[in-house]
Amino acid sequence: MNTQIARDMGLEFPIFAFTHCRDVAAAVSKAGGLGVLGVAGHSAKALAIELDWIEKEIGDKPYGVDLLMPARFAGSDRGGFDESQLDERIPAGHKEFLDDLLQRYGVPKLADNTKLPREFAVGTERQREVIDLVFSRNISLIASALGPPPSWMIERGQAQGVKVAALAGTVEHARRHAEAGVDLIVAQGYEAGGHTGTVSTLVLVPEVVDAVDPIPVLAAGGIGNGRQVAASLALGAQGVWCGSVWLTTEEAETDPVVKEKFLKASSSDTVRSRSLTGKPARQLRSAWTEAWEDPENPDPLPMPLQPRLIREAQARINRTAHKNPGAEELANYFVGQIVGSLNQVKSVRSVVEELVQEYADTMERLDEWAEG
Ligand SMILES: Cc1cc2nc3c(=O)[nH]c(=O)nc-3n(C[C@H](O)[C@H](O)[C@H](O)COP(=O)(O)O)c2cc1C
Repeated sequence: MNTQIARDMGLEFPIFAFTHCRDVAAAVSKAGGLGVLGVAGHSAKALAIELDWIEKEIGDKPYGVDLLMPARFAGSDRGGFDESQLDERIPAGHKEFLDDLLQRYGVPKLADNTKLPREFAVGTERQREVIDLVFSRNISLIASALGPPPSWMIERGQAQGVKVAALAGTVEHARRHAEAGVDLIVAQGYEAGGHTGTVSTLVLVPEVVDAVDPIPVLAAGGIGNGRQVAASLALGAQGVWCGSVWLTTEEAETDPVVKEKFLKASSSDTVRSRSLTGKPARQLRSAWTEAWEDPENPDPLPMPLQPRLIREAQARINRTAHKNPGAEELANYFVGQIVGSLNQVKSVRSVVEELVQEYADTMERLDEWAEG
């Protein structure tokens, strides 16, 4: 696994871990990979605390951050809507459908003073404060999802020696990122958890590797064991970028009800749905996704209206899923098809060690096969 990107970034293994949990990010960096903290949804103030904690935990090991920078969203042609305009754009019928859904499943209301999770800001200008903050810390990588990073972010990365990466779900996305001047491209296939396109990892990775050569590519989507790591390198990727595999680790802050569902799920139990964010994102199938798929019901709204519409409903579900059967049926979260192989809670370190060991065994087996 001694690839150029691993050498350039001082990594023992080119295993990149996307996660929203600081403990997972730190544990991966400490185990020889690169923890990448998803910072969409953080305020600059809250993020400073998380990054300081990670840096204290990992010492001089490298880590990175990831931002959602959607190129297209409702109102993107005019720089986005402000908060009051957003509410006006949510149809009353959608609110009624959602109220009715939660009532049918018997999900209790929240107390009046309950604080809802922060919404993520769309539009790069609105994320400036967060971007300024991450560049003031000791990051080795900054990644952008759902669109190419703006030129000022790339220039800032170059000036500070921070690698700028971008996720691509098609070869066209990858070409656009290459033209923008990124240092690294994550080719993420259909089977991935979270926002995803429709081209499979096995097809996408070599296509992207050829299209953007000599820019290094990481393979993402459906990678959860060492054979898949070996396959990714065989496709021309210089490393792997995994998300789902960390969600059932000891360190992950995944909601316990959802973690249990993940441990029992098969690889057929996920669906690409716009019901959480307004853009197609792979997640666990549940009564929630079924309700939004029903043609009798309203279609999900575009980003960022859908997350705003469902924010309170999701908080009601997540806070009561451990004690309310209706909320438990609705509860779900982003996860990829590899969920079918996540059957046991393990430490982050043992996940990394198993990926590496199985990769080594696979390479040995292939050598034996080649020798005949
Ligand atoms: C729970 C979850 C949330 C995600 N959120 C983001 C995100 O905010 N930004 C991003 O670039 N990718 C996000 N992703 C996608 C990951 O970066 C990664 O590409 C994907 O998980 C790889 O496929 P896998 O899930 O099969 O490992 C998310 C994935 C998961 C599972």
